[in-house]
Amino acid sequence: MKTQIYKANTQNLTKCARLLREGEIVAFPTETVYGLGGNALDENSVKKIYSAKGRPSDNPLIVHIADKADIVGLVKQIPPKAQAIIDAFMPGPVTVVLPKKDIIPSVVTGGLDTVALRIPENEIARKLIRLSGCPVCAPSANTSTRPSPTTAKHVYDDLNGKILAIVDGGECNVGVESTVIGFVGDKPRLLRAGGTALEKLEKVVGKIEVVRSSTVALCPGMKYKHYSPSAQVFITTETDGATEKLTTVYDEFLQKGEKPVIICLDETAKNIGTRAVYNAGKSVDEYAHNLFALLRKSDEEKYTVVLCQSVNTDGLGLSVMNRLEKACGGNRI
Ligand code: TXA
Ligand code: MG
Repeated sequence: MKTQIYKANTQNLTKCARLLREGEIVAFPTETVYGLGGNALDENSVKKIYSAKGRPSDNPLIVHIADKADIVGLVKQIPPKAQAIIDAFMPGPVTVVLPKKDIIPSVVTGGLDTVALRIPENEIARKLIRLSGCPVCAPSANTSTRPSPTTAKHVYDDLNGKILAIVDGGECNVGVESTVIGFVGDKPRLLRAGGTALEKLEKVVGKIEVVRSSTVALCPGMKYKHYSPSAQVFITTETDGATEKLTTVYDEFLQKGEKPVIICLDETAKNIGTRAVYNAGKSVDEYAHNLFALLRKSDEEKYTVVLCQSVNTDGLGLSVMNRLEKACGGNRI
């Protein structure tokens, strides 16, 4: 199968929307990461997504819609705090998990009786979904376990030959996936940290319980190995003053014949000397924006060890740390 990359003009979006409606799968940009979309009401199309990604089928998919008016047809009820999140943050990088109606096939939800719903802020995504005329279920458009894609090229690198079409919408603004919120009654719970900061959500709905990723059954996706480049990834135990640790460990690996690279904030990057470094930006938001792309770059440039600076968990720092912890698989320095 030849994989075609399409510019995001109306003609191409109409063509890709038709592919979706007919049961094909299409990768498309969102403000968080690229998604691999299929018709959420068509079981075969959903199965194609799992198979192209090599994704375990008990890991449910997020259903993407273009308009708030489409929510009522898909869920049985909307608790008041879910409604408040929908009103305040959608479209945007947030996903709500609600009791599903029967119209959603259980292959989409990995057998769960809830469905994850999201309205992307990205105009191209919404236009494509609207033109397709169906809800579009989409996981991130990477091969399972690889870092999520934030450019069309990342998608192509992983899925060339496995899907027909990629819509190219340039670089994703946010760079980490959406924040996933579930509900017990009307009580919100954070199932996955992501592109909308917890503090912002709490300003609207009050305290949100943070579910540790070890309580896996709640958000099945969190139990799998994730975001890993081929290199061994290490993260610093400390957030401040990581410079000395990063440089010392870097030098040790170099001596052992490894090819290390450091990923850190701008402030730290200035003190790394002549060592190989990827500057992740001046803020945690920039770190979130750049992290996946840098992990992929480390593969392209054949680094064997990636040493990452940890950050504190305010704002998008929580998402950065969640992704780093998954990528490092417990390797700390
Ligand atoms: O930003 C995003 O959310 C991106 C873009 C493409 O929209 N999508 C994305 O999808 O990150 P994916 O499949 O890589 O992650 C979906 C997460 C998984 O951790 C999954 O377990 C969780 O959402 N999830 C989906 N449905 C769920 C449900 N019914 N209950 C609990 N967790 C659910
Ligand atoms: Mg993913």
